[in-house]
Amino acid sequence: MERTDAVPAAWQPDIVEVLLGANDISRRVTELGALISKEYSGLTPILLVVLKGSFMFASDLSRAISEPHELEFIRAKSYQGTCSTGQVQIQGLEAVSMRGRHVIVIEDIVDSGLTLKSLYQSLEGLGAASIKTCSFLEKETARRKEHVPKIDYIAFIIPDKFVVGYGLDVNQKYRQLPFLGVYKT
Ligand code: IMP
Ligand code: MG
Repeated sequence: MERTDAVPAAWQPDIVEVLLGANDISRRVTELGALISKEYSGLTPILLVVLKGSFMFASDLSRAISEPHELEFIRAKSYQGTCSTGQVQIQGLEAVSMRGRHVIVIEDIVDSGLTLKSLYQSLEGLGAASIKTCSFLEKETARRKEHVPKIDYIAFIIPDKFVVGYGLDVNQKYRQLPFLGVYKT
């Protein structure tokens, strides 16, 4: 992996390290897309994209899936700056019809797992034929809550650092970076 990529001058000193270069990300997303294409062949799954953080991952992953699939978008919000508020708001689920469908939740990052846990509670009783989760990142952390649903597909496991780019933000900034960077602390 290109862990030695330099941080572009425009993003210094806020971003202290490039954790995943754009090429590493692209290679891994292509692999995941191939795996999902194989496992969901003939099932026309719904990719349930959890905005905003996973917009770039979902966009690349969708293009890496060669089989027919649909895209739906919901919104989950729990962070203020670099801290979780402990309360998860989920919006937009009422507009998605899941009865009898195979659903793949597309997340940006699972940290404490609170967002994923709340989301699964909201998905209960909506009649999906199956629900799996695909997350761009999983953070290795002692903050993980109990009874967090299993993450079925993970692009990368990362250390317990606050990261930005490739869709992830701090106060809505840095989402557009094509790489994943470690934010200054
Ligand atoms: P969890 O509920 O603690 O698992 O956190 C999930 C949400 O927190 C993610 O969907 C992100 O929006 C946000 N988050 C957690 N860690 C980071 C990070 O390192 N950078 C940016 N956002 C993060
Ligand atoms: Mg966020």
